[in-house]
Amino acid sequence: MEVEGAQICELSERELHEATVTTPVNIAVVKYWGKRNNDLILPTNSSISCTLNQDHLNTKTTVRASSSYTDDRFWLNGIEETISNSPRLTTVLVTLRAIRKEKEKTLGPLAEGEKPLSEWKLHIASENNFPTAAGLASSSSGYAALAVCISKVLELDLTASELSKIARRGSGSACRSLYGGFVEWQHGVDPSGEDSCAVSIAPESHWPELEALILVVSDVKKSTPSTSGMSTTVKTSELFPLRVNEVAPKRIKQMEQAILEKDFNSFATIAMKDSNQFHAVCLDTFPPIFYLNDVSRGIITLVHRFNSQVDPATGEPLGIRAAYTFDAGANAVIFVLKNNVKELVEYIASHFPPATLQPTSVYFPDPFGIFRSADA
Ligand code: DP6
Repeated sequence: MEVEGAQICELSERELHEATVTTPVNIAVVKYWGKRNNDLILPTNSSISCTLNQDHLNTKTTVRASSSYTDDRFWLNGIEETISNSPRLTTVLVTLRAIRKEKEKTLGPLAEGEKPLSEWKLHIASENNFPTAAGLASSSSGYAALAVCISKVLELDLTASELSKIARRGSGSACRSLYGGFVEWQHGVDPSGEDSCAVSIAPESHWPELEALILVVSDVKKSTPSTSGMSTTVKTSELFPLRVNEVAPKRIKQMEQAILEKDFNSFATIAMKDSNQFHAVCLDTFPPIFYLNDVSRGIITLVHRFNSQVDPATGEPLGIRAAYTFDAGANAVIFVLKNNVKELVEYIASHFPPATLQPTSVYFPDPFGIFRSADA
């Protein structure tokens, strides 16, 4: 199987029909919010994300196929869920089985009484090492892991691009987790969705100085799921067409250039503005959707204050040295260059004592509740 950025997906086959895959989350810096086709999960605009180091936030999925299993079964974080209650999981499963069935037509005949692999039932266990559904992009890593892992068990030789399209049917943002580094999900124009998949802009090694900190403001389940939230936005927000037709396409080009040129100032400015516009569009949805809370807004103010500091020796502005972005939840992701991490962490910690940021000792061992994407 060709998975570009293979370093992000560690595959381990313990036996013939079992595989374990670990897949990272990605955080959008130009957001996806809105579908033009709900069933195929085709977006209204392209989006760009950074894939985080999978040592920290990831989904680990194990799939086992057996000819003796009588049902497909699924466990999320150790609790069994009913597969038929999840049409998207079913879609991913059905799509991959159909590809397997096609492949079987080209394989030799089976032994007497042998069942083809496409008919074997699967037991799937998936675990996030961070709070699920708290707006920390769990579906992005979850469905990417699921698509890669099932395809591995079914012995399918799919490219990262093909897997990206299948993961997209589980959750839009998941299509970007098939690649490491900097990734664009191209919205595509084909009604079938054939051209709506992720492509790599640059690998992780392109900009190793860039780090992400996650400030855990709240680990409770988000009040409005992304899927229903964006559907109401598409139907009701008057600001939304401006975003889709004018702002997002312009930002995609600018963000791609900022990444390729490692221009932190532009990267940070676009990321912050895009996060703000996404939440403005949520507020313009009717009834409005609120993802940010007072602590989130406090973090936004703090980052702007940090960015407006001057050099005490020269009085010159130090420039933009940090960028926030918020998805469908109150938690902040802060992008910062390595040489500014220490100062920023101290600055945040002096304003937000650990209790405010609700560190969860299991997932975020740092005393400030701050997760670092890589060791500096
Ligand atoms: C705010 O991918 O969770 O994180 O496709 O309906 O499953 P569905 O939505 P999902 O939406 C993510 C929205 C976002 C922005 C982004 O990741 O681009």
